[in-house]
Amino acid sequence: MKLGVNIDHVATLREVRGARYPSPLEAAALCRQGGADSITIHLRVDRRHIQDADLQALRRALTIPLNLEMANTPEIVEIALTEVPEEVCLVPEKREELTTEGGLDAVGQFAALKPTIARLKEQGIAVSLFIEPTLSQVDAAKALGAQMVELHTGTYCDQEGAAAEAELERLAAAARHGHQIGLRVNAGHSLNYDNLTAFLKAVPHLDTLNIGHSIVARSVMVGMEQAVREIKALMAP
Ligand code: PXP
Repeated sequence: MKLGVNIDHVATLREVRGARYPSPLEAAALCRQGGADSITIHLRVDRRHIQDADLQALRRALTIPLNLEMANTPEIVEIALTEVPEEVCLVPEKREELTTEGGLDAVGQFAALKPTIARLKEQGIAVSLFIEPTLSQVDAAKALGAQMVELHTGTYCDQEGAAAEAELERLAAAARHGHQIGLRVNAGHSLNYDNLTAFLKAVPHLDTLNIGHSIVARSVMVGMEQAVREIKALMAP
């Protein structure tokens, strides 16, 4: 099983200060050293974290695959067709949301998604759809020609007890079905150091997990001591 690290929040930290750092490119190199198999970024329509220049820099420098999360809007589709990341994951996007809420409705958006997926594939980009873990959404992804699905794990991560167990069953059924009909099955959203083990035990056939917030948050904690030491060293007489 592979790990894609979502580094959006490295850019968030930069953007909230209007600063030049921290650099997503530098973070991506460290993720790779730590064992990341791919890097995920979400180029949002409002550019709240990752910027076009980040995408371009990562395309030039990254030595592991880049997975671009994006909404199906004409502007962003053109950017993807120009930059040609190895993978695109189509996600729903609402301007006011804090993070992606819910999966893409591959059934309801079928007509709008079909030409976009065809164009991305023509350009050699592998296409994933970020969907709710239901059989009908998995079937729609297959019918649309996507090679992958990313099962939305957010509901599982927000629940406890029996509700979490029920959601794990839904995820496992969707993963089994996706695998059976020849899709690569990925998963992600809100996975963290506490909820990952039960998820992996319950859900089969996973190819790649995309994890962002918990890794970036943890990196602040495991890096804080060193960062303070380095400033103290500069202050030493
Ligand atoms: N997968 C998708 C499609 C996402 O939109 C996100 C959030 O950007 C993630 C995975 C990663 O979620 P988290 O940051 O909660 O790990």
